[in-house]
Amino acid sequence: MKTYQITVLKGDGIGPEIVDQAIKVLNKVTEKYHVRINYQEEYIGGAAIDATGIPLPQQTIDACQASDAVLLGAVGGPKWDSMPGNRRPETGLLGIRSALGLYANLRPAVIFEPLRSASPLKEEIIGDALDILVVRELTGGIYFGQRGRNTVDSVESAYDTERYSVTEVERIAHIGFEMAQKRNKSLCSVDKANVLESSRLWRETVIRVSQEYPDVALEHMYVDNCAMQLVRNPKQFDVILTSNIFGDILSDEASMISGSIGMLASASLGKNQFGLYEPIHGSAPDIAGTGKANPLATILSVAMMLRYTLGEPQAAKAIETAVAEVLTKARTPDIYTEGTQLVNCSEMGDLVCELL
Ligand code: IPM
Ligand code: MG
Repeated sequence: MKTYQITVLKGDGIGPEIVDQAIKVLNKVTEKYHVRINYQEEYIGGAAIDATGIPLPQQTIDACQASDAVLLGAVGGPKWDSMPGNRRPETGLLGIRSALGLYANLRPAVIFEPLRSASPLKEEIIGDALDILVVRELTGGIYFGQRGRNTVDSVESAYDTERYSVTEVERIAHIGFEMAQKRNKSLCSVDKANVLESSRLWRETVIRVSQEYPDVALEHMYVDNCAMQLVRNPKQFDVILTSNIFGDILSDEASMISGSIGMLASASLGKNQFGLYEPIHGSAPDIAGTGKANPLATILSVAMMLRYTLGEPQAAKAIETAVAEVLTKARTPDIYTEGTQLVNCSEMGDLVCELL
């Protein structure tokens, strides 16, 4: 029997409850497909600060490096908001992405048919389907550039630096083009090349890489225009390729178009199919422990894990089908509509398992 080692980083807020549901679903589906998973739980974020004093203990990095994949819940919360910037829970998340070399972040924004009315956009704008893949560069740019503060003539300033090397742009561009080849063969590279030098390098590099993918139609768009086009005509997009910070912003926007940020999964990939899988939403401290959290984004992240790291596309598909089906009858509060059954986080996990 194939056996995989997964490091589980539940994190903060709703993290533990949603991850528990995803594990429940993963156990159910892998039993059926004859795969065995060993789990090892480690600390990250605020939970790690409470237990060890820092947001990313070395033991967590070591465990992740020794495993086949990582499943993460969410990090952060008001309890740690007053910590200095370099000790905040979020630093743990950036740190693990960087330590594991997870430069490619895939964030699919899809509308599940039963949730069409949950999209804030008019039906005529979304049409009968919406399926966008945001490919976000994850270990470079302003998130990892030089930053600091200084005081000149008693006026304090702060700075953060956006910097990209050709190598960093090339490798993420290849991922974008490869994804586009498997989809509708259309790639929109998003930058701010009318202002930023780093964006001009980004664009030149993407154009060069595009020569290796003659079957993919390449378009360039400024990020401000892209933010507008996403609500004006989201159907024009297939794959959006963009930098770390622009991808952070545009993926939240794309997720909302699809109805609820509680539905969207993500994969952060490095070399050799290694990946970290997490929902794109945050730790929602306001509803933690109330049972109101929607576990479907994390459940769908486990499906991505089966597809991209564990090489079990059928098991991945089985989860996605079960999720689409469960939505026709049961909903957590964030996506509830009349005529469906209102369920809590763990009931939703149970229902997905029943459909598998
Ligand atoms: C995300 C989150 C993180 C990011 C935060 C929590 C550091 O917003 O994964 O999109 O900005 O990358
Ligand atoms: Mg974000």
